[in-house]
Amino acid sequence: MLEVVDLHVEIDGKEILRGINLTVKNGEIVLVVGPNGSGKSTLFQTIAGNPKYVVTRGDIRLDGESILELPPEERFAKGIGVVFQAPVAIPEVRFSVLLQAMVNKKEGRKLTDPAPQIIAEARKAAAELGLSPSVVERPLYVGFSGGEFKRSEVLQLALTKPRYALIDEPDSGLDIDGIAAVGKVIDRLVSGGTGALVSTHYARIINFVRPNRVIVMANGAVIHEGGSDVVRRIEEVGYRQFFREMGIEVEEAKVE
Ligand SMILES: Nc1ncnc2c1ncn2[C@@H]1O[C@H](COP(=O)(O)OP(=O)(O)O)[C@@H](O)[C@H]1O
Ligand SMILES: [Mg+2]
Repeated sequence: MLEVVDLHVEIDGKEILRGINLTVKNGEIVLVVGPNGSGKSTLFQTIAGNPKYVVTRGDIRLDGESILELPPEERFAKGIGVVFQAPVAIPEVRFSVLLQAMVNKKEGRKLTDPAPQIIAEARKAAAELGLSPSVVERPLYVGFSGGEFKRSEVLQLALTKPRYALIDEPDSGLDIDGIAAVGKVIDRLVSGGTGALVSTHYARIINFVRPNRVIVMANGAVIHEGGSDVVRRIEEVGYRQFFREMGIEVEEAKVE
């Protein structure tokens, strides 16, 4: 079980997350929705271990043990895989090199050990995700279109099969076929026992994955929990009206 307990997070001395509690069990999908700036990506970055995000209170636990002191690569080795909303390009690193290193890390081998079977697997997974198999030979994310990088991030999950997959907006910047392909990969991972935390702005994703719970965030806190109907209603009427209907007081987020 992945547990987030009373998590408070600051960036540059400013409090962004204000006491988040949530759990994701094996084989479960939890959706996270919330207006822009509500803290979804901050939550994902903090669980991944990005040092810019400072935990001032609370805990993140994997099977009951705190992972707060672990660097990102050890969190990954323990089974936390993350798809970021906006990854950076690294011209010096071929995608295949990253994939080999990730699988090696996960399986406790040296990062640079040759792993040709991974490349073959990656090419197959790429095709399944609607990517050209040659994508694995490209410099990491250089000149990737929005659709290519989302699919490539999900490709990493397909290959490394993390115990917990944190997927930040898998459906942003993807066409319908892309959402279907990504949804299929998530669904398969979850059938295999992965617990998934997935942020989204769109109800479309629930045509492809069946969430166990939907968590609504606003201003760095979880303010509501429900089922798939929550996502549908929000898509229909928007966040502001949804909050009103639920009788939830939300101070207007200030766009700085
Ligand atoms: N690296 C950062 N530096 C400064 N402020 C940040 C950073 N990341 C996020 N924030 C702020 O934290 C708040 C939550 O942002 P974010 O987690 O990206 O929200 P969401 O993903 O829900 O749109 C926003 O007010 C944003 O400006
Ligand atoms: Mg975000």
